[in-house]
Amino acid sequence: MGCPLLWNAFAALVLVLLSKGSSLQGAEFGHVQDNITVLEGESVTLRCRIDEDVTHKAWLNRSNILFTGTDKWTLDKRVTLVNNNSSDFSIHIDNVQVSDEGPYTCSFQANNKPGLAHVYLIVQVPAKIVNISKDISVNEGENVNLHCLAVGRPEPTVTWKVQKYGLVSEGEFLDITEIKRQQAEDYECLTNNGVAPPDQRKVKVTVNYPPMITDIKNMPAHLGKTAILRCEAMAVPSAFFEWYRDDHRPVENDNTLRIKNEKTRSLLLFTNVTEKHFGNYTCFASNRLGASNASMLLFRPGAIQGRGTGLHAGLSAGMCILVSFSAFLLMMV
Ligand SMILES: *[C@@H]1O[C@H](CO)[C@@H](O)[C@H](O)[C@H]1NC(C)=O
Ligand SMILES: *[C@@H]1O[C@H](CO)[C@@H](O)[C@H](O)[C@H]1NC(C)=O
Ligand SMILES: *[C@@H]1O[C@H](CO)[C@@H](O)[C@H](O)[C@H]1NC(C)=O
Ligand SMILES: *[C@@H]1O[C@H](CO)[C@@H](O)[C@H](O)[C@H]1NC(C)=O
Ligand SMILES: *[C@@H]1O[C@H](CO)[C@@H](O)[C@H](O)[C@H]1NC(C)=O
Ligand SMILES: *[C@@H]1O[C@H](CO)[C@@H](O)[C@H](O)[C@H]1NC(C)=O
Ligand SMILES: *[C@@H]1O[C@H](CO)[C@@H](O)[C@H](O)[C@H]1NC(C)=O
Ligand SMILES: *[C@@H]1O[C@H](CO)[C@@H](O)[C@H](O)[C@H]1NC(C)=O
Repeated sequence: MGCPLLWNAFAALVLVLLSKGSSLQGAEFGHVQDNITVLEGESVTLRCRIDEDVTHKAWLNRSNILFTGTDKWTLDKRVTLVNNNSSDFSIHIDNVQVSDEGPYTCSFQANNKPGLAHVYLIVQVPAKIVNISKDISVNEGENVNLHCLAVGRPEPTVTWKVQKYGLVSEGEFLDITEIKRQQAEDYECLTNNGVAPPDQRKVKVTVNYPPMITDIKNMPAHLGKTAILRCEAMAVPSAFFEWYRDDHRPVENDNTLRIKNEKTRSLLLFTNVTEKHFGNYTCFASNRLGASNASMLLFRPGAIQGRGTGLHAGLSAGMCILVSFSAFLLMMV
């Protein structure tokens, strides 16, 4: 039934119980507790080979009689005699359930001597995730508790992994205290019990944080040429960008100036720089967690730049000094 391995296992478990009517030998075999392993839902054959001297025979599930000879005692339709002939007394169980696990006994009598053969049926269930956290979105600094509950026989292991780092934790629960933006990942839960390939599922954790402007530069521009001012901002969810001039007037698209917004940056594209374009531009990036702004100059090379730049959020003082220094150098040209 789609499980050749299993059938091989069955083939290996041929209980040869009696050779030439020696019940003693049968009894000896009866001491060996063989295990037979089957997956839940599959079927299994419990073999009991006997010989013609056998006068009485029975199959038991624990102490419940399944068959005495060819008389069926159990009402369970899943249990049948495999072959009704004088040398084979095997039973077949269809659609094996976890409750079928336990000892089965083939009991017989030959030459007025009793014999027994035991087989222990082990029912396995592949590891399976039955309850896992949904994808979540949290704000930076919050605590995150993920769960991944798995079932299976034998009891499966549960681990959490992240592609980048590998194993992050063992067990069904993964707790992250004060999550940082770098910890926004697909957390993968894996469960395994060696019965079937591991079961795995992912939980996507999104960490929201306010925009942080990362890279701005003053740009020189030549009259009649093109120029670009860039404003890069890291943010989750993605930042919404706006541009302002010195006098807080919003910058608007016109036939020589275009605003191009992308996921992580906004561009001011000047297609034909004219006198009126020189000046101080402020990029304003916002999302529902906050905002950040930074200012930069579009300047004429060689022009006296008496003004520095105002970099407000997310830029270090060192950067400011560097920018001021560049402005100073420009003054020297
Ligand atoms: C059968 O399984 C039990 C545990 O399930 C184990 O202790 C025993 O050694 C096994 N016997 C054989 C013959 O494999
Ligand atoms: C099994 O075989 C015996 C005799 O060999 C016969 O009497 C009996 O009817 C058979 N049972 C079944 C279920 O075929
Ligand atoms: C009885 O059945 C077994 C298993 O199917 C088979 O190997 C054996 O040859 C059969 N014996 C007779 C006498 O039909
Ligand atoms: C074996 O016995 C158990 C109860 O002891 C029962 O739940 C199970 O269905 C039985 N299985 C078979 C194949 O008879
Ligand atoms: C899933 O597991 C969580 C954590 O143990 C529990 O709170 C929740 O009720 C479970 N959900 C379902 C549908 O079983
Ligand atoms: C740029 O603008 C100036 C003044 O408006 C105009 O004379 C010139 O032709 C324009 N250049 C281009 C490439 O459009
Ligand atoms: C540019 O504008 C911003 C915001 O109005 C201001 O804080 C900054 O000082 C200005 N920079 C220069 C060089 O004028
Ligand atoms: C720009 O950032 C500075 C410093 O964080 C802040 O004081 C100012 O209000 C911001 N400007 C705007 C228009 O949000």
